Amino acid sequence: MLNIAILSRGPGLYSTQSLFRAARMRGHYVRVIDHGLCSLVIEQGLPQVMYEGTRLVGMDAVIPRIGASVTDYGAAVIRQLELMGIYTATRSEALIMARDKLKCLQILSANGIAVPRTVIAGMPEALPRLIDNLGGPPVVIKMLESTHGVGVILAESRNTAIPIVEAFTKLGQPVILQEYIEEAAGTDIRAFVVGKRVVASMFRQAQVGEFRSNMHLGATASPIALTPDEEKIVLESARLMNLEIAGVDILRSKRGPLVMEVNASPGLEGIETTTKVDIAGAIIENLERGVEKHMGKRKWQ
Ligand SMILES: Nc1ncnc2c1ncn2[C@@H]1O[C@H](COP(=O)(O)OP(=O)(O)O)[C@@H](O)[C@H]1O
Ligand SMILES: [Mg+2]
Repeated sequence: MLNIAILSRGPGLYSTQSLFRAARMRGHYVRVIDHGLCSLVIEQGLPQVMYEGTRLVGMDAVIPRIGASVTDYGAAVIRQLELMGIYTATRSEALIMARDKLKCLQILSANGIAVPRTVIAGMPEALPRLIDNLGGPPVVIKMLESTHGVGVILAESRNTAIPIVEAFTKLGQPVILQEYIEEAAGTDIRAFVVGKRVVASMFRQAQVGEFRSNMHLGATASPIALTPDEEKIVLESARLMNLEIAGVDILRSKRGPLVMEVNASPGLEGIETTTKVDIAGAIIENLERGVEKHMGKRKWQ
């Protein structure tokens, strides 16, 4: 039996509940800890986390479910727990890396993963040329930390693309520009990785008149089997991002599958209800293996 903490700000959220139940079902002691209410005590040789007035002790493993609005503090809490020797299903550095779309694409593409052609401008004067570099409009403009499709814009022409980028830049929000994969036609694939396996995948279709296939924007989903090529780049992407648990999104393009992003805290509701796969169960099982390996390593340190 393990002593597990789920780091979540929403004890009632589907993903939190599903993980909680799966851990209980497998005989573990589990509780939900709100990372936003954790305080960190930094002291020589004694990293500690304070929660509800007491020191957190006796935990074997944590499952971080950190929202995009609190990535930095969430990552600091995970780092503190790592320093305390606790096993984490998602490492702090991996979470930070995955949350930055630019960094994520830089690493994936440099390691040979196919991604949509992407640019970022160091100065506004470079924009016209960069848009040419993408093959001309339409182009997709993305805030570096967008989630649920908010901050992802399709610019049909140069005359809309350039002022949009200028406006974001003025607001201090850097954006990336991407070639628009038209043939995906408002669809994408979410593949869910746990450990070294793709445990489930779904095909998402945007609402009529919408190019973003996020479920929060009303997209519909159905189960889908990945091609061997897709499975390969999905697993390789999760591995490159150092993630044991990952939601890898791919676009089916004319030149094959392209990895669009890797989510470090993928939601369970859409994929579990669509595919009927017990993903939370797979996550807990993988956690058990991870803890065992981690303990083995610790003994020899
Ligand atoms: N380059 C692109 N070409 C075509 N569609 C895209 C492209 N980039 C994003 N999309 C669509 O927009 C959605 C949201 O983009 P994404 O990069 O996943 O942002 P978020 O992290 O906010 O979900 C995707 O699921 C996809 O349907
Ligand atoms: Mg997305």
